Amino acid sequence: MKPAIILSKTLPDDLRQRLDAHFNVTDIDGLTPENLDKYAHAFQQAEGLLKSGGQVDATLLAAAPRLRAVSTISAGYDNVDVEALTQREIVLMHTPTVLTETVADIMMALVLASARRVVELAEFVRANGWDGSISPELFAIDVHHKKMGILGMGRIGMALAQRAHFGFSMDILYHARKPHSEVDSRYKARYTDLETLLRESDFVCISLPLTEQTYHLIGRDQLAMMKKSAILINAGRGPVVDESALIEALKQGAIYAAGLDVFEEEPLPMNSALLSLPNVVALPHVGSATHETRYGMARDAVDNLIAALSGKVEKNCVNP
Ligand code: DGY
Repeated sequence: MKPAIILSKTLPDDLRQRLDAHFNVTDIDGLTPENLDKYAHAFQQAEGLLKSGGQVDATLLAAAPRLRAVSTISAGYDNVDVEALTQREIVLMHTPTVLTETVADIMMALVLASARRVVELAEFVRANGWDGSISPELFAIDVHHKKMGILGMGRIGMALAQRAHFGFSMDILYHARKPHSEVDSRYKARYTDLETLLRESDFVCISLPLTEQTYHLIGRDQLAMMKKSAILINAGRGPVVDESALIEALKQGAIYAAGLDVFEEEPLPMNSALLSLPNVVALPHVGSATHETRYGMARDAVDNLIAALSGKVEKNCVNP
């Protein structure tokens, strides 16, 4: 008898077939409270859950007494109550490696777009504003040879440092739990405390997960430490930045611009003040959203669930 699992995300055909070969799959269209009721019997039976978004919390765990493994198609797992899973000896699997280069690409894209005003100027052309030579009000600021401060020096932080140092001749500062001698020597990077990084950087780039320690790590006081010419980039998790404080800082010209892929509330509400500020580039949480990488994440998540439910976890486990 194949173990029963719940799948809350549509997968490419070949991956779906691989999943079907191992499990009895019940498809649901999202981990919503309504679906917990609607598919109550499937949750009762499920030994595995393969998911993308949605909360895995006490309510879901109560509905799924046989659950042994959760596999998330993401690197981040801030929407999962890891402690509750661990107490029940439920394994949590994620996809931390396959998206590294792709997320670093979007961070560099946000750096370039914000500094060179790419979105604003493209809109200017579309709006038929280009009727002569460009005046200094539309000039941008340079990226190359500037100072990039990276908050969080995990895989993505390193891939960003690689791009910035070798591609754009930038000086790298970073703040993380501890210094990395490899990073220091490879990218001539300097480990600093948070305040030094904020005061010195031309670009403050956030590549941090959301935890109790990182929630609102960047607030009013921290934004006030940044240079007026500095740009804030966030492709980690929205709540790492206090968004109201950021809006105030952008409105008052306390910082130059922001490039954001993540927000406190997603999807970003259309009435967010961020959307009325010309010095904000806002993306819809697409750091990993390329065909190649999203396929790779789904493939890894399928493999992770197969490994976890056969008791052969070797990698990608959050709570081994
Ligand atoms: C991740 O994998 O955590 C990315 O942010 C996409 O959700």
